[in-house]
Amino acid sequence: MCTHTHANPLTVCDFEDYPIGTEWTMWNTKSSTAKVEADPLNANNKVLHVVLKDWGCHPEFNLSTELTGKALTDRYPTLRYQLYRSPSETDDYKQFAVFLGSEELYRDEGYPHQGDKGVWQTKAYTLKSASADNTSLVLRLGIHHNNSDFYIDNIQLVGEYDDYVEAEDGQVFDYCVNNTSSSYKTINTPLYIPAGVTANVRTSRYSEWISPVAGEGTLNIYAGGERSYIGSQSNKGATYPDWTKMTGDVHVYPYKDVIGSCGFYGLMLQSGTFSPDNYNTTHPNTLFTNSRLTIHSGAVIAAENGTRGFRIGELNLEEGAEIRGYYKNSTANSYYIIGGLNTDNMLAGKISPSNSGNKIGLIKEGKGACIITGNDNNINSGVMVNAGALLVCNDAAAAANGKKSGATGTAGTVMVAEGARLGGNGSIAATTDCYGVIEPGTTDYDTLTFADYATSKDVKLTLHPKSYIKINARSASEYSTVNVKGSVVFSKTTQDFLTSDASPRLKLLLADDASFSINDEITLLTCSTMPEGGMAFDMRYPQRYTFTTEQRKLADGSFALVARVISLDDNPDYIENDDEGESTSTEKTYPEENVTEDMQSNVPLRTYAEKLGKSIGVAAASYRYDISNDNVKETAAVGREFTILVGENEMKFDATEPSRNSFNYGGSDAVMWLASRNAQEVRGHTLAWHSQVPAWVSSDGKKNNNGFTRTELLGILKNHIFNVVGRYKGKIREWDVVNEVLDDDQSQVRTTPGSYKLRPSIWSTYIGEEFIDSAFVWAHQADPEAKLYINDYGVEFMGGTKTEAYFNLVKRLQASNLPIDGCGLQCHLTTGQLDTLKLENNIQRYAPLGLNCIITELDIALANPSAPDALEQQAKEMAAITRVFLRNDNCPTLMFWGISDNHSWRQNQPLLFDSNCNAKPAYYYVHAQLRKAAESVADGIYTTTHKEGEALQQTYNLLGQKAGPGYKGIVIKAGKKFLR
Ligand code: XIL
Repeated sequence: MCTHTHANPLTVCDFEDYPIGTEWTMWNTKSSTAKVEADPLNANNKVLHVVLKDWGCHPEFNLSTELTGKALTDRYPTLRYQLYRSPSETDDYKQFAVFLGSEELYRDEGYPHQGDKGVWQTKAYTLKSASADNTSLVLRLGIHHNNSDFYIDNIQLVGEYDDYVEAEDGQVFDYCVNNTSSSYKTINTPLYIPAGVTANVRTSRYSEWISPVAGEGTLNIYAGGERSYIGSQSNKGATYPDWTKMTGDVHVYPYKDVIGSCGFYGLMLQSGTFSPDNYNTTHPNTLFTNSRLTIHSGAVIAAENGTRGFRIGELNLEEGAEIRGYYKNSTANSYYIIGGLNTDNMLAGKISPSNSGNKIGLIKEGKGACIITGNDNNINSGVMVNAGALLVCNDAAAAANGKKSGATGTAGTVMVAEGARLGGNGSIAATTDCYGVIEPGTTDYDTLTFADYATSKDVKLTLHPKSYIKINARSASEYSTVNVKGSVVFSKTTQDFLTSDASPRLKLLLADDASFSINDEITLLTCSTMPEGGMAFDMRYPQRYTFTTEQRKLADGSFALVARVISLDDNPDYIENDDEGESTSTEKTYPEENVTEDMQSNVPLRTYAEKLGKSIGVAAASYRYDISNDNVKETAAVGREFTILVGENEMKFDATEPSRNSFNYGGSDAVMWLASRNAQEVRGHTLAWHSQVPAWVSSDGKKNNNGFTRTELLGILKNHIFNVVGRYKGKIREWDVVNEVLDDDQSQVRTTPGSYKLRPSIWSTYIGEEFIDSAFVWAHQADPEAKLYINDYGVEFMGGTKTEAYFNLVKRLQASNLPIDGCGLQCHLTTGQLDTLKLENNIQRYAPLGLNCIITELDIALANPSAPDALEQQAKEMAAITRVFLRNDNCPTLMFWGISDNHSWRQNQPLLFDSNCNAKPAYYYVHAQLRKAAESVADGIYTTTHKEGEALQQTYNLLGQKAGPGYKGIVIKAGKKFLR
């Protein structure tokens, strides 16, 4: 192995190469000077002596690095240098500044003390990210003053890549040996590939690549045979290294030179337990999230086993390459989430499970297209087109002649979401569900065919309310069309699982140079079976010409919808702005907030919440900090800011009943005592859960390894609930009676409305669903005053299958007359996931049932902690959630899952306070929402806030009270006054 370690950190200058007396170039100088001199404390060392007489005057240094702009500061975010202040210096308070060219990368806030005089001190500053288009190689830095005398030395740029092995262009890292399954090879060299550099890595059969890769260059992986893992095997933890800072191109080639014959040449990948319907929250593998991955002919990527998701910024699959489940394992289900880089993805290779039990699915995200040209695919778990386009561009004629399965195969379902598009000129054999747009063609006028040539079965195309078919036309002989060899069905279910009478829309778009004569015809759509009630589209005709549509039966028994020109005049009924852009999801941008007032305020959150009659809460954690000592800063903040507490772990089964019928209330009492010292309410969390169950009940929360009968388990649960709830009767406001009872996979709700599926657990598997019913009844009997909740994660946003299943389950519990007061949405989020409108729609649909829907465990991890605006983005999302909480009466409670970032159960700074327990922007943004809401109450009138993206239907009187339908007088609705 030949490696080259970069001479890191990047040394800007140590002055040793310059003769004493060298006059240094200064930026903006009038009479300031800088000269290389001997170190005043060490005659053998050369340093730069700076005498400043001008403001904004700094010595200049030329960087000899190929990195410029953002690439430089991303890689070297810290500037380090040594400063010696001359004893003659008068003013101690000065700024220090750094510029790349003329772009300021650092300036001291205020005028800080610059340290002792007459000694060398090492200083380090975190630089701001430079602009990407800054190409300057001149670094200007130093004290900013008009009367200063100092020396500097050893100027260096340092960064986290200092530990990486930096690849030289063309370098080969050869890790390929002909080894066996009992001698796995480990690749553990952190690799940095600079822009413009190509590194080649040869891997082995039986190898685990566990080290990070970063950089902007090109990585060629020559995969040396099956079981070449990126990460570790399942039996070693199924982990994978951090490659998220690899933003260049990654190529995978088969490497057969060392081992000429084995199952496949490619990469084995892992992820956490993955659920395609909840692909954002169920931990996809992030190796290629920020890179462009190309799999070359002869190479494969696949999951090892289990259901795994791989997020790939851009995926290109060459003809002859494959993605699939692992061929040796019949439970290797691979889901590829592609397109996050907003570019196009070309899938010309084969997409299919290699084993009859395997599954493979595609999830398209990002603005670009995913173009499938293969003709033998079997995407048996389907394609979810969530954003951008899926262009099906297989050779449909060849599929018809050769009885091929085409671009998608027949087994899965293609789902086109609102805002996404399905197009192309090939054939789809899969059942297709469209909530978005079907627009045939690529750049030409083409036919998009729905046909199953492999099995000759009818294909079903379901068009949901307000979906779109868009047909482009230029003349009677040049137009696109949709050809369904099967049935077209109009559905009444929206993507959010609501019922709507709106029809699918069909829009005819004419080219600028379109030309038609009277009676010219365009076949818009053909199918073998029509929707019930005919092809009654909501038609959108163009402005030019006047068309009509006719439904016809063709000679072969199929049906056609034909548009015919009935006048050369413009369409008299043309409406310019139709509802095309309509969507039930919010843009992920949030308003800027002026929080100056909040940053100066010492009014805690709870003061506003109490005034508003709302509960704002936090999880207190006795084992993370001393909750009995109010001088501990975390404990103080918990007491000061919130109206309600929950124990992060203290009231769980394993904490309260560590051995059978022997209860331990140490932690839970400590939480109660903290709350009572601060006059706070308490939520109880939680009674029946599959996690944090003591071993005497179950070794892992799922197995019945202690061999209990159903009756015994019921007795155990009942005894637990009566004891724990009973102990705090009248003192705990509400309980999470059951927690996380739903399975992550609720895809069945698409086909079975009203359904839900329970997660396997010691309770659900060995008692049955009635454990939920019983738990509610027992909790109610133990404390009839306590409010009772169900709680879960992944159920936050309308339209999610698990969200829908949760609603179904809650309705079932209510219909069974159980004492349920509401449901909790955990809201463990990552920045970028929030969809305020879908959250609010979800909360609001519980209101007519008389149920609360509250936020129980909010934290928002930073998706990209090094992004300059990461904390602000987090703050904006916290604020948006707070607004939803404030304006919905059936959402009385908002709880944060922990106080400060260092005491969170999650990485990446998800809370309101930083690791020193200082308020973060998120705190101030939340503060501002509460403050403004409380101030508007003081004026006697609520601000008529409205939903993000939608007018509020609520009506208020002038006192800010809700005005019911019978109210007479002046009312305010959506910010406008009316007299009723
Ligand atoms: C977490 C705690 O925060 C951790 O300290 C503990 O190790 C595991 O549990 N959903 C829940 C909470 O309902 O109880 C979980 O709390 C986080 C996810």
